[in-house]
Amino acid sequence: MKDDGMIFLIGFMGAGKTYLGKQLAAKLELPFYDIDLEIEKKANLDVNDIFTKKGEQYFRKIETEVLLNWDKPGIIATGGGIVEKEENRKFLKQELHKIIWLHTPWEIIRSRIVNSYRPIAVERTESELFTLWDQRLHLYKECADIVYTGNSLEELYDLI
Ligand code: S3P
Repeated sequence: MKDDGMIFLIGFMGAGKTYLGKQLAAKLELPFYDIDLEIEKKANLDVNDIFTKKGEQYFRKIETEVLLNWDKPGIIATGGGIVEKEENRKFLKQELHKIIWLHTPWEIIRSRIVNSYRPIAVERTESELFTLWDQRLHLYKECADIVYTGNSLEELYDLI
């Protein structure tokens, strides 16, 4: 990969973007970033507080601002809802960006997010979460250059 490249990890909550992103970054000797953390810095609140005190729309506004101004090369984990806005997808799909979709099976996602603190998860039932996951699949697919289904990390390194 070119030194100034950006590899964005996309996928639903609990797909393993942060976990895998850190491993990839270490292996490729690249910096790792997490868009959610950058949003927290910008809003001066953690993600949960942004949702409860300011609302989802405010979160989405900052999320788009952070993404559309992103200029740091490295491995970048995104939030699961980033693909919902067309302008975000358009930014992600630029030629110079490499987009890896962590397409983790629903059963694994479910076990990780049900009963988790995540604001999107706490306010939804399990079947609502499944519907959201299902509805977002085609958006992740639309953006993805590489689809990783969790077979082998080595395979992923080779693809990159
Ligand atoms: C969200 C996912 C979260 C975070 C926010 C909204 C979503 O990120 O951005 O709570 O809409 O799916 P993770 O995918 O890292 O949990």
